[in-house]
Amino acid sequence: MSASPAGLQITTVLGIGPIAPGDDLAALITATKIHWLDGSVGFADGDIVVVTSKIVAKAEGRVVAAQSRDAAIASETVRVVATKSTPRGTTRIVQTQHGLVLAAAGVDASNVEAGHVVLLPLDPDASARELLTHLRIATGCSLGVIITDTMGRPWRLGVTDVAIGAAGITVVDDHTGRVDGFGRTLEMTMIAIADEIAAAADLVKGKIDGSPIAVVRGLGQFVTADFGPGARAVVRPLDEDLFPLGTAEAIQQGRATAAMNRRTLRQFSDQVVDADLIVRAIAAAITAPAPHHTTPWRFLVLRDEPIRATLLMAMRERWIADLRATAGISEDSINKRLKRGDILYDAPVVVLGFIDLGAGAHRYPDAERANAERDMFMVSGGAAMQNLMITLAAEGAGSAWISSTMFCADVVNDALQLPATYQPLGALAVGYPATAAAPRTERSPSAFMIPKVN
Ligand SMILES: Cc1cc2nc3c(=O)[nH]c(=O)nc-3n(C[C@H](O)[C@H](O)[C@H](O)COP(=O)(O)O)c2cc1C
Repeated sequence: MSASPAGLQITTVLGIGPIAPGDDLAALITATKIHWLDGSVGFADGDIVVVTSKIVAKAEGRVVAAQSRDAAIASETVRVVATKSTPRGTTRIVQTQHGLVLAAAGVDASNVEAGHVVLLPLDPDASARELLTHLRIATGCSLGVIITDTMGRPWRLGVTDVAIGAAGITVVDDHTGRVDGFGRTLEMTMIAIADEIAAAADLVKGKIDGSPIAVVRGLGQFVTADFGPGARAVVRPLDEDLFPLGTAEAIQQGRATAAMNRRTLRQFSDQVVDADLIVRAIAAAITAPAPHHTTPWRFLVLRDEPIRATLLMAMRERWIADLRATAGISEDSINKRLKRGDILYDAPVVVLGFIDLGAGAHRYPDAERANAERDMFMVSGGAAMQNLMITLAAEGAGSAWISSTMFCADVVNDALQLPATYQPLGALAVGYPATAAAPRTERSPSAFMIPKVN
């Protein structure tokens, strides 16, 4: 279906006058004379009546005192998409209960008596259906109805009208599967036909000269016998939306949930872990707080180098020896435990973390202070490892923090030829998830807060 622009006419419905609660819009519209350029008068099959939502809202009594504007906006808001503060005030781009995303929930002070603001119609599709029913009965014509509101657009200056309610009309003209002039099959072109008609009608309605209704002739192929899907069908489902939040809000949400989104990942897919990602994660790790203004964290990144297998074999041998030296552990139990260490063989990347106590830790003659100093550096290592893991998780990768290197520091340092001042922090098995992580079971912060003693 394509429009016939040569035959497209749009005319205003003049003389509607101010609308008051309870007014019958269909009666007002059919009581006026609609004049067409070719001299004809009145409605014909296929005409589309385009009505500014403001008069629909006024007729439905959706007018409130201006003092309660903020409360009205809040009550119309389902979620805040973006907020912008300027010296003139704060603008909130919000999603309304209709699914519409627009400034101030569509609550508007223009074209209404001073001291009042107009809300959007409660259910613009229902309003469109009702109006259409009455218009069809009164005129005997097969008409369509679109209810419009004015919106700004991301990335574009200026406002334009869109369809927020529709009845008896195709709202989206799906070209998918049609063949273009070059023989190419269109794969995803969907024309927002109701929005285009709303915008076209606004060219003749205008904002200031008080003509809130236009009739569009020449697009009868989009008028449907039934009510059609309504304008609600144009609202893109949130989970399919590439831009569900304003930039500032998305950044804020990402920051607020970054720590929560990290999960220990024990099963990896074959997806290759980019070297740059590891570098970015280490860049985050080395922003960790550390004692005495030191920078004691060190990392070794291993992929498939022979040293990885050499290291893991040496650790395994030490582990077996340690387990056999522990009373009451059966060979079966030893094998089961060893199996759990396989993750460091299987992961696409292993990142070994260390604290170099030679990089600024103070020396103490007594064990108590020496241990406290060491602990202090090790907790800084923990912070660095967590930063690393959070950054990986934020970019869709995952990791498991495996402690084994901490239990055999001498074996590790020997195999990797590292100084004895290096204290292993464990190893991170890094990769992309084979399956989605289970959602976290929520923990109550209060359960972790130590009550104050008097
Ligand atoms: C210092 C440290 C050592 C860990 N060692 C191991 C380990 O050896 N093997 C293992 O499977 N998980 C190890 N973990 C991961 C924990 O088991 C994991 O954090 C826990 O299951 C909670 O899951 P979550 O990280 O998804 O919240 C270690 C975690 C930390 C902080």
